[in-house]
Formats: sequence, C-alpha cells, structure tokens
Amino acid sequence: MTEQRYAGKVALVTGAGSGIGRAVALRLAAEGATVVGCDVDTDGLDGTGKQLAAAGHTADLVTADVTVQADIDELVTRLPGDRIDLLANVAGVMDFFLPVTELDDATWDRVLAVNLTGPMRLTRAVLPLMKVAGKGAIVNIASIGGLTGSVAGSAYVASKHGLIGLTRSTAFLYGADGIRTNAVCPGGVETNIGRSAQPKVEWAYERLSKSFAGHVTRTAAPDEIATLVAWLGSDEAINVNGAVITSDGGWTS
Ligand SMILES: NC(=O)c1ccc[n+]([C@@H]2O[C@H](COP(=O)([O-])OP(=O)(O)OC[C@H]3O[C@@H](n4cnc5c(N)ncnc54)[C@H](O)[C@@H]3O)[C@@H](O)[C@H]2O)c1
Repeated sequence: MTEQRYAGKVALVTGAGSGIGRAVALRLAAEGATVVGCDVDTDGLDGTGKQLAAAGHTADLVTADVTVQADIDELVTRLPGDRIDLLANVAGVMDFFLPVTELDDATWDRVLAVNLTGPMRLTRAVLPLMKVAGKGAIVNIASIGGLTGSVAGSAYVASKHGLIGLTRSTAFLYGADGIRTNAVCPGGVETNIGRSAQPKVEWAYERLSKSFAGHVTRTAAPDEIATLVAWLGSDEAINVNGAVITSDGGWTS
C-alpha cells in the first residue's frame, strides 16, 4: 500500500469485527488513518486486531453496540482530539428473508435499529465535530436491497431504502458545511452476513431466488467494497456528495 490518503486523519468504522467493516478498518489503517473501530462481536474485533498487527498497524477497537446511545457517546469520546474525518457506517444485519406477513416485531425492530437508527445516531453524534472542522465524510453501507425489493426480506429492504434516504438528506442539508455523505450499495460479498440470512419462509425465498437467477454475476471480496469506501472518504472524491453507488458486479444493471 503506497497511498497515504488518510495520513493524520481519524476514521470511525462500525462493524469492524468482520467482513466489509474489517476490510475498511484494515485499508484505512494501511493508508495512514487513526482508526476507531467498533463491533458487538469482541472475538471478531480481536481477529481484526491480529490482522492489523500482522500488517504492522494498530487501531482502537471498542466493543460497542450501534443501537445503544450510551455506546455511541462512548465511541465519540475515543476520537483523538475530537477529530473525525470519516464515519463509515458498516455494521448491519439481515432479516432471514422474512416477508411482511410473516415478519415478527422483534426482527423488524432489530433490523431497523442496527441498519438505520444506528447510522442516524452516529451521524447525529459526529456532525457537530465535522461542522466545527468545516469538513468530513460519511459513507453508509446500504445494499442493492436499498434500490430493489427483490434481494432480501421486508425489514432489510425497508432499512436499506431508509439508509439511502438518510444519506441523501444528510448530503443535502450539510453539504454547505463541507461534509460529504454518500452510500455504497454492494451486491453479494463474501462475509459472515449469512448469520442472519438463513431463509425462514420457503415461499418468499423461492420467489426471491428466481430474481437472483441470472443476475448474480460474481461474489465480491470485502476489500473490493473497502476500496470504494476509502475513495469516497478521501479528498479525491471532493465533488461527490449524495451519491448512491452500486458495487454489485453488474447485478442491478
Ligand atoms: N455481504 C453482503 O453480501 C452484503 C451485501 C450488501 C450489503 N451488505 C452490508 O454490508 C454491511 C457489512 O456486512 P458484512 O457483509 O460485512 O457482514 P458481517 O456479518 O461479516 O459484518 C457485519 C458486522 O456488523 C456487526 N454488528 C451487527 N450488529 C451490530 C451492532 N448492533 N453494533 C455494532 N456492530 C454490529 C456484526 O457483529 C459483524 O461483525 C452491512 O450493513 C450489510 O447490510 C452486505
């Protein structure tokens, strides 16, 4: 890694214990960022810490739940010098492909809390610091499920459409403060998201499967998404605000 686009910069990455969040933390650290990474999965964070160490980097890895306001408050106190150049909202969960008729309130509440309310609260927490600095970037990991109803259950699709709405609203309202907010919509990525993706309702998954057939071109490696996050968060993307960018190998093309 020769680029050092994040030298002297601070990044907060959620979901840093696995998959895309881990890849983002590793990439940003390699590019010189001081990374504060959080996850509910302490073992996952340990794994990230080991990979960072093996590459000669470190990060402040904190066990924290993005659905808990007190944890978010604590995360903000960990930002060195109250500085934050990039917030990467990566933590997310699937919804067992549940259609709305079979959707229980607990799944709806959890998926919305992690995928939408968490990013909103983190955004709300860091914007004042970014406004003082007159600059900052937020990258929200949405999904192609934020663009179409045909790839997941009702709660996940609603949460990711909502996250795109939050992205656009934040981009518009805070762009004049020098803050850029963008969304990335991955297709299939090889991660541990399968923990919440075992289909629970046969008829719904059958219908969804038909839409997958012929559209899924390839499964991405987490770092293929991390490269886009790192670019969007860097000054190279200075003119990009409010964008919703797919990285799906052509799935939605
Ligand atoms: N993998 C895919 O195919 C795919 C496709 C589109 C979008 N995404 C999105 O990418 C993001 C990252 O997912 P991934 O694929 O790397 O999955 P992953 O399961 O490998 O990683 C997600 C991480 O988020 C953490 N997390 C879950 N709830 C949390 C909470 N309340 N607080 C803090 N951390 C929490 C998990 O412990 C896990 O480490 C998610 O938002 C997901 O919706 C993934």
